Amino acid sequence: MEEVQIRDKVFVKYLSEEKIHKRIKELARELDILFRGKRPALIVVLKGSFIFAADLVKYMDLDVELHFIRVSSYGEAMQSSGQINELIGLDADLQGKEVIIVEDIVDSGTTLDWLIRTLEPKGMSSVRTVTLLFKEDAYKFAIPPDIIGFSIPNDFVVGYGLDYAEGGRGLRAIYKLKD
Ligand code: IMP
Ligand code: MG
Repeated sequence: MEEVQIRDKVFVKYLSEEKIHKRIKELARELDILFRGKRPALIVVLKGSFIFAADLVKYMDLDVELHFIRVSSYGEAMQSSGQINELIGLDADLQGKEVIIVEDIVDSGTTLDWLIRTLEPKGMSSVRTVTLLFKEDAYKFAIPPDIIGFSIPNDFVVGYGLDYAEGGRGLRAIYKLKD
């Protein structure tokens, strides 16, 4: 399936299932090495990251703690609102933990920056960030995420957990908006 229609928009295949899995295996290996002998706490940022996080932990050999949170998101639009006001669902004590924030996509970086600042007072021993996709041209902050699956152009993408107006999350590949 090279093209898919989601609601009013047409998307074309951009990253195949094979390519995504090959890269996630590499990321898993990198994390296994980085955290060898430790038991990191993964903080998965819902909803978009749920498939990426599931595959990542399956490919990792290390045992990890898993936590799921939400922050306010895009809604139905295709542009970041730039406004985040609430962190939902964090019930874990992160004191002294080695934390890995798991994101599906980092665009402007507003969400990730806000999240790191919000988690800071929790007394974690370290915080790393891993994102499957990184829109480097849209990124507004100085320090990029620590571990990046794919740097992509500033196109709107869906699939593999990512949505357009809550559609397309179950696609096995990643598709970009057709121009
Ligand atoms: P940021 O705060 O601008 O970095 O935006 C991050 C959030 O916007 C992500 O966690 C996604 O929920 C959403 N987002 C950004 N770009 C896309 C995209 O191309 N497709 C789907 N969601 C996106
Ligand atoms: Mg997200």
